[in-house]
Amino acid sequence: MRTTLVTGSAGFIGSNFVRMLRGRNEPVRVICLDKLTYCGNLANVADIVDKDRVVFVRGDICDAALVAELWKQYDIREVVHFAAESHVDRSILDSGPFVQTNIVGTQVLLDTARKLGCDRYLQVSTDEVYGSLPEHDKSAMFTEETPLAPNSPYSASKTAADCMVRAYFHTFGLPVLTTRCSNNYGPYHFPEKMIPLFVTNLMEGKKVPLYGDGMNIRDWLYVVDHCDAIWTVLNKGKPGEVYNIGGNNEMTNREVTEIVLREMGKPWDQWVQYVKDRPGHDRRYAIDASKIRRELGWEPKYRFDTAIRQTIQWYKDNETWWRAIKSGEYLTYYEKQYVSR
Ligand code: NAD
Ligand code: TYD
Repeated sequence: MRTTLVTGSAGFIGSNFVRMLRGRNEPVRVICLDKLTYCGNLANVADIVDKDRVVFVRGDICDAALVAELWKQYDIREVVHFAAESHVDRSILDSGPFVQTNIVGTQVLLDTARKLGCDRYLQVSTDEVYGSLPEHDKSAMFTEETPLAPNSPYSASKTAADCMVRAYFHTFGLPVLTTRCSNNYGPYHFPEKMIPLFVTNLMEGKKVPLYGDGMNIRDWLYVVDHCDAIWTVLNKGKPGEVYNIGGNNEMTNREVTEIVLREMGKPWDQWVQYVKDRPGHDRRYAIDASKIRRELGWEPKYRFDTAIRQTIQWYKDNETWWRAIKSGEYLTYYEKQYVSR
């Protein structure tokens, strides 16, 4: 059976990915490596960890000695690299951890893969590396050839990591794959990101903070579709290639907010608070995912209207999960981000 190192597996997408592999009984042993930062949560994977098929190790991807030890101990031949600092607003407050984990951490993984051997290395990246699109020209979309033009410290750190991945292919022939996906939503999403923040705020009787004019556009993809695309690229992708992943589902933040409010039976006037815009806020992201569809046969299966309903229901059914998170460190961040500026 193959052994795959999955970094960041206690986070939102990483935990959904491991859950998907177990649910489908894919013939793979997973070594989960996660530092359990503020947004990593062992509860996200605790029920699927078992000593044979899903091994969990708490540790930092920047720790080269630990990564090498795991490589040898478990005979790792494959990597899916999710671990990252992932929130744009936090990168604006302090970009240091983003440079460390997203750039240095990626370099450590690449170097270990190069020295100790690796059959497939998949870098989970983001459409944010392409920068922002004009909102009025709907024909403009990000393709894999769009120049990299990151605008936030988060996307700049992800872009630097993507460039290292590219360099390890060209210089050392490391069999790398890169995926660049649009905004995800679904279960286990940390409630600092827009959709889970809005859903849980409404459940707590708090207003939802909409940035600027609320007309920024994102392309929303259900997390299970993203995980399925990653698995497809890992198994069928061509080394050295980049694959865009998207939901073909562009919406303004106002439209998303309207849907969430409607699903939760809350009128707009009482529950939406416009707040100061995010500095450098990218106006529009839109993904052209025709390459992965054409070359690997992947396309999204979930529709936004049904998957958002399931997602809201998940937050209703898992109050203990998010209430435990929305305390402690989270409150300090919330105060800095929303209350005191
Ligand atoms: P997340 O913030 O929910 O999870 C990140 C995980 O990485 C956490 O479990 C955290 O503990 C772990 N981690 C952080 N620093 C670490 C370190 N130094 N060593 C080991 N583990 C560490 O993020 P997410 O939303 O699940 O995103 C996963 C990946 O997907 C990221 O690389 C992100 O850039 C990318 N991505 C996310 C989205 C999205 O909409 N969320 C879209 C496209 C791409
Ligand atoms: P987010 O979930 O942080 O993802 P990203 O910035 O990586 O796209 O934000 C999604 C959109 O929602 C983005 O345009 C910013 C906006 N937003 C708000 O309006 N209010 C909020 O409180 C947050 C967190 C985001």
